[in-house]
Amino acid sequence: MNPVLDRVNEFPVFPVLETDRLVLREITMDDLDWYIEHFSRPEMVEGQDFPAPESREVAEEELRKYIVDLFRNRDGFRWGVTLKGDPRLIGSLGYYKWARPWSHMAEMGYDLQKEHWGRGMMSEAMRAVIDFGFERMKLTRIEAFVFLFNTRSTRMLERLGFRREGILRSRVMTSDGVISDDTIYAMTRDDWLAARGRSKQ
Ligand SMILES: CC(C)(COP(=O)(O)OP(=O)(O)OC[C@H]1O[C@@H](n2cnc3c(N)ncnc32)[C@H](O)[C@@H]1OP(=O)(O)O)[C@@H](O)C(=O)NCCC(=O)NCCS
Repeated sequence: MNPVLDRVNEFPVFPVLETDRLVLREITMDDLDWYIEHFSRPEMVEGQDFPAPESREVAEEELRKYIVDLFRNRDGFRWGVTLKGDPRLIGSLGYYKWARPWSHMAEMGYDLQKEHWGRGMMSEAMRAVIDFGFERMKLTRIEAFVFLFNTRSTRMLERLGFRREGILRSRVMTSDGVISDDTIYAMTRDDWLAARGRSKQ
């Protein structure tokens, strides 16, 4: 059975992760300008069911609630994606809805600036974060909800070893007010072990 994690002792500080090309670091209130610019981009608004922040004050509230307090309360992690040697943020990814009292499940979210798409950057970040989830957070299942039309996102999840479990009809409203189907993808610990085995062959 999954232990009840003592999350503060297990993660006394935000865990920085490194991959071949990337450094994944903590996002703080000092990143407010980035937050506003990044989450106002049309590709972010379209890909996720979340409108652009209406004002600086709203953005500040969102950044605190969804990113900074997420880790402060140990309810999840949102890493900022940077290229090695360049501290500017180009995206973010992480876990939210981390189950309590057991730590067996969490949802993932991710977003990358368009100029960096098509280079495997998010896949690289996702692999590090997925390993972290199964190894350090003691997850046994990771979920991701994706608009049916977000084929870049579904392609990436499938390549990483997530499985499509179902279509959730009329579940979401897009930023322009259109009702859309959602899909649920999940990766279990067994899927993760299988995907890791394949990548080592
Ligand atoms: C979802 C999102 C992160 C995917 O970005 P991405 O760059 O396509 O994803 P990856 O990092 O997996 O890159 C894969 C692409 O890089 C290519 N690639 C190049 N070098 C690569 C490498 N070393 N490793 C893996 N893929 C590589 C792949 O062929 C693939 O290209 P293709 O899709 O044209 O075939 C991005 O579209 C995004 O941020 N969208 C807006 C926000 C959003 O929708 N978030 C998800 C909400 S559910």
